[in-house]
Amino acid sequence: MSFPQRRPRRLRTTSALRRLVAETRLSVDDLIAPLFVREGIADPVPISSMPGVVQHTIPSLLAEVKRLAGLGIPGVILFGVPEHKDDIGSGAWDPDGIVQVALKECRQAFGDELVLMSDLCLDEYTDHGHCGVVRPDGTVDNDETLDLYANAALAQARAGADIVAPSGMMDGQVLAIRDALDEEDHTDVSILAYSAKYASALYGPFREAVDVTIAGGGDRKSYQQDWRNAREALEEIRLDISEGADMVMVKPALAYLDIITRARAEVDVPLAAYHVSGEYAMLKAAAANGWIDGDAAALEVLGSIKRAGADFILTYLAGEVAERLNG
Ligand code: PBG
Repeated sequence: MSFPQRRPRRLRTTSALRRLVAETRLSVDDLIAPLFVREGIADPVPISSMPGVVQHTIPSLLAEVKRLAGLGIPGVILFGVPEHKDDIGSGAWDPDGIVQVALKECRQAFGDELVLMSDLCLDEYTDHGHCGVVRPDGTVDNDETLDLYANAALAQARAGADIVAPSGMMDGQVLAIRDALDEEDHTDVSILAYSAKYASALYGPFREAVDVTIAGGGDRKSYQQDWRNAREALEEIRLDISEGADMVMVKPALAYLDIITRARAEVDVPLAAYHVSGEYAMLKAAAANGWIDGDAAALEVLGSIKRAGADFILTYLAGEVAERLNG
């Protein structure tokens, strides 16, 4: 009988062998923790659709960032939940706005120990819940929004952000932000562009986390990408790099692994993926029911995002996975 001489299974026989030949390695260095900080609360508020995730007070945020830094997590990305919202989202650039205050406190407490990123968008700060300025007819005005993003970028840079991460999917946002930052000498502040961001049903729990309801039952399909399109994502990524993005991101992650792989093949800047709130919620819900092994699934899912080509992952699993990777 002629039996193939190569037997791939041989290399799977022990845990040590499997470790030796592993093509993909998930490390604490790959993880960025998204954190929510809310103005005007005395105690952290749990987010029911994201078990284990809370809206932080400034003190609880500082304690959590300290814990994450101790675990070796290289960075966090901050999202603000303001007490008051208005039609232009002015809390996004108010020097006393919640994210600006949080950035300052973190910078003061942690120096350069970890990378401070801030989500740059208006939806958390607008009363209508859209990511930009809304015209009387209800549509979002792309170009009017760019100046406001520039304001927010400056406020975040002045408050100490290392990296600003525009997530609003307005055309030209990276260029507008880069110009504003450079003009004020924030030339070392980097831009992580949410370049290929899809209008996804998987952001549901995040809307609870930041207390956002889109006016009139609206959606973001006129500015975020359509899940049917892949080539368009590459075009978005190319444009953002040409406008000055230092790093680009694909979001969500699991349903878009093909986009991550295609982006990795095409671009040489660091590539991030966002494992979003709905992905986290699905995993936690199934695990809570005993339907899947949540710990094993978390490693597998994050590992697959790396295998697809992401350099690092924004994930609500960051803390718990870091604990296990360290353990
Ligand atoms: C917009 C923003 C969103 C998320 C990150 N930045 C929501 C949206 O576009 O509707 C979603 C993150 C998640 O679901 O975990 N500021």
